[in-house]
Amino acid sequence: MNIEKEKWNAAIASAEYVKNGMLVGLGSGSTAAFMIAELGKRVAGGLIMKGVPSSNVTARLAKQAGISLISLEDAGTLDINIDGADEFDAQLRLIKGGGGAMLREKILAHNSRFNLIIADSGKEVDRLGKFKLPLETIPFATQNIMEELGKMDLHPQLRMKNDEVYKTDENNCIVDVDIFQKDDLEELNRTLIQIPGVVETGLFLSTTDLVLMGKGQTVTSFK
Ligand code: 5RP
Repeated sequence: MNIEKEKWNAAIASAEYVKNGMLVGLGSGSTAAFMIAELGKRVAGGLIMKGVPSSNVTARLAKQAGISLISLEDAGTLDINIDGADEFDAQLRLIKGGGGAMLREKILAHNSRFNLIIADSGKEVDRLGKFKLPLETIPFATQNIMEELGKMDLHPQLRMKNDEVYKTDENNCIVDVDIFQKDDLEELNRTLIQIPGVVETGLFLSTTDLVLMGKGQTVTSFK
């Protein structure tokens, strides 16, 4: 199984959904990067579209690919949002935020008419939670939040990068938690988001319209 090829195939298939004149949410991560490259090719070939990037990295990639960018404010509602995921289940519920961009990603998902997820076959799971769930937290509150999460048996870990506390594009922290034993994810998400200082979670429970998953040489759709 060639994971990179599966990502490519899903990304190329997703680009077919972008039509002339569309406002497009551009996700983050390696699969989204393939999609951005493919959209860039299509723009060079005459496709007219504008993108709203979900991260600073994505903004840079989109500009390099020749895609015109627009702010969310100016876009209002997006026609389509295309993004990757760390895990998805049969109900199209997602864990996202492996790349730390889930706050803006969730905002784009919320403001889009159609949400398309692109993934390789390693992302399909029976039960969410082998991948640790990222929580975006305000630095001021992060230590206290971690103590609270510890008492909930969620085994919080502060995300680090190069021996320093990882910071998101919004200058917040990421705390990764273990939710594999939790059965009611909707209830868990409500509890987590109510902790003051938790800005967003990487659980995307009811936003996804379609998943395109590369598997071997083919692309499978889930809706
Ligand atoms: C970033 C994300 C990504 O979509 C997720 O981490 C998947 O990344 P990749 O396509 O590199 O596997 O949620 O915040």
